[in-house]
Amino acid sequence: MNPIPVVDVNIKEKELEAVKKVIESKYLVEGKNAREFENKFAKFTGAKYVTTVVNGTAALHLALTALDIGPGDEVITTPFTFIASSNAILFNGGIPIFVDVDKETFNIDPEKIEDAITEKTKAILPVHIFGNPCDMKAIADIAEDHDLIVIEDCAQAHDARIDGIHTGNFGQIGSFSFYGTKNLIGGEGGAVICNDEELFEKIKSIKNHGRSPKGGYYHYRIGFNYRTTDMSAAIMNVQMDRAQEILERRHKNGELYRKLLSEQENLMIQKVLPGHQHSDYIMTPIILNEQVKTEDIISYLKENGISSRTIYSILSYEQPSYTDLSNWHMSRVVNYPDYSKVSCPNAEFLARNHFEIPMVSTLSDKEIAFIVEKINDFFKKK
Ligand SMILES: Cc1ncc(COP(=O)(O)O)c(C=O)c1O
Repeated sequence: MNPIPVVDVNIKEKELEAVKKVIESKYLVEGKNAREFENKFAKFTGAKYVTTVVNGTAALHLALTALDIGPGDEVITTPFTFIASSNAILFNGGIPIFVDVDKETFNIDPEKIEDAITEKTKAILPVHIFGNPCDMKAIADIAEDHDLIVIEDCAQAHDARIDGIHTGNFGQIGSFSFYGTKNLIGGEGGAVICNDEELFEKIKSIKNHGRSPKGGYYHYRIGFNYRTTDMSAAIMNVQMDRAQEILERRHKNGELYRKLLSEQENLMIQKVLPGHQHSDYIMTPIILNEQVKTEDIISYLKENGISSRTIYSILSYEQPSYTDLSNWHMSRVVNYPDYSKVSCPNAEFLARNHFEIPMVSTLSDKEIAFIVEKINDFFKKK
């Protein structure tokens, strides 16, 4: 029997048909499907404006560029995330300032943000890690008090909401990934949402080499090519039609895991704040028992037909690419901090003690009960 996988790809005949249609039409570049997807995603998120992009990293870079984050600008963010979150800041010569996370929510701790603000701070880039919404009300208040921009990294947060409002709507721009293992996918794929018309026009222009909205070869500003293909957009478009079916199962799974795992005293699971809806993208318990190593539980689960792994065990500021930035061309113009001196104890604790368990959209109640039973067996034997 194949082990229960950690991640899956939930695509069906409908996605295949949609991609086939695009190929048959020979209109492979961003077109009809992207526009349809954008309308659906605007409804889904409640955002006024959506544009499709090639991936979530491009979405972040586009957001930072449209909001004029440039060399020497400090952007406050979390180190407990995928490297793209802070890399996008570096792309423009911005300086990621890493603030520790809250030990219970795993998200950037709003109480620690204020201490990190300097006269060079331009923005806060919170990441809804694993799909757990950050305390956006507290973050938005700090941003308002200090006149800072907020860009939400919602790569993992499809259907993560706060009091019903979709993440990505609490700051100036929300960026999303539709990478092949996310809650909703496009193979590669991304989206940017915002609620300001002027900013949106700028985003669309920078996404497409600063071209005139009418197309052609007149360029108003420097931009990138962050357009996607209509094959990816076709998958994203169908995924929006299937979103309820895909996400309902994930939310049920998340609820059941939270209920069953909260009874295991050797573990801590991510705290979801009141009124917050987790996207149920990833489930990562934290081992509280100092005698237990993550490798031990991972290999025990493997022996029992369950895949699991660690993901962000090296924090962003600990990555070799950050501890030596001398080969990054922006270091010729920007004086970066010495990241080897940064310390975020809560993030370090989570990084060393988490393990990711299966959270695939097709997981059944029975499989979840089995996974939790095996985790409990492991601790009984300790
Ligand atoms: C938190 C976070 N930010 C950004 C990204 C970048 O998205 P992409 O892989 O689509 O470029 C990811 C993707 O995996 C992510 O998990």
